[in-house]
Amino acid sequence: MDLRITLTKMPKQLPDDSKLGFGELFSDHMFNMDYNPEQGWHNARIEPYAPIMMDPATMVLHYGQAVFEGLKAYRTTNGRIQLFRPDQNMARFNRSARLVCIPEIDEAFVLLALKKLISTDKKWVPMAPETSLYVRPTIVAMDSFLGVRPSSTYRLFIILSPVGAYYPEGFNPVTIWVTDKYVRAVRGGLGEAKTPANYAASLYVAEVAKKAGYTQVLWLDAIEHRYIEEVGTMNILFLINGELVTPPLGGSILAGITRDSVLTLARDWNIPVAERPITIDEVMAAHKHGSLQEIFGSGTAAVISPVSHLAWQDQVLTVGRARVGPMAQRFYEAITDIQYGRAEDRFGWMVPVDEA
Ligand code: COI
Repeated sequence: MDLRITLTKMPKQLPDDSKLGFGELFSDHMFNMDYNPEQGWHNARIEPYAPIMMDPATMVLHYGQAVFEGLKAYRTTNGRIQLFRPDQNMARFNRSARLVCIPEIDEAFVLLALKKLISTDKKWVPMAPETSLYVRPTIVAMDSFLGVRPSSTYRLFIILSPVGAYYPEGFNPVTIWVTDKYVRAVRGGLGEAKTPANYAASLYVAEVAKKAGYTQVLWLDAIEHRYIEEVGTMNILFLINGELVTPPLGGSILAGITRDSVLTLARDWNIPVAERPITIDEVMAAHKHGSLQEIFGSGTAAVISPVSHLAWQDQVLTVGRARVGPMAQRFYEAITDIQYGRAEDRFGWMVPVDEA
């Protein structure tokens, strides 16, 4: 497929790299591509960043038929730009798409377009320590129609946002509120898809947690309200008695790429790993017996997010003396060192964008 490029005549002012938040600013260009049943995916183009015109009846606005991805481009110490495991994001994009009846994409082509877009906007890849260019590929249903059925037309777009830390806490421990009243997703539903519904389902509860003084929510399973699933928008890991435990991907949990990277590193380091169901009661008991060493979340945006406190029913448990634990620190450093080219890429995770 051809890829047309139209450059902006009005480049924006670049932000101060040292003051970046998360997802507030966007680069000069975006990638767009359309789908209809006759032509399939077509009209691939990089053009100036601009609003998308939509009829008020556009299906995505009513029924949320959409999928998205999140990945980052890093500027390495020798000035190159590279992506972290983007093939995994493309594969998950298609897995999510299938779950909400969105036509699949050509993963290799969209990855090529994504690299070309980053290379067009390469001056937007920030240089300050621990900053990166967050990449957000998205597909939305475009039919103007109010009946409930899959749309027949779609728009795929990719936008770029220079970012710093996701949580204002940075790489400092966050506090977590455990809920057995509200649920994020149920097995057989959309929990493993990166689709807006899962994030919409988290908003009200996150506000409840915030009002109670906590940074995020720990989600339990939707049936028994015992098994731990995710933390906020991240996967969760526990270090108990020297073993790294994380819930298995049973259909309601997003298959995190950072989660997979943590597990790969742990196995490489000969740390015992268990992907198995874990209940909130087991965590409370481990804490009581002194075997709960660390809790941390993993995700693209924050990489590793250590947990200092867990509020469950009438107890507030303090994890690892409320400081960043050595295991969380080790994973954070190992992953970010690979991402920024400070360490050898032993697993072949990094993909250069420079020559796109
Ligand atoms: C992540 O990267 O951890 C997320 O899922 C957060 C993103 C939706 C902003």
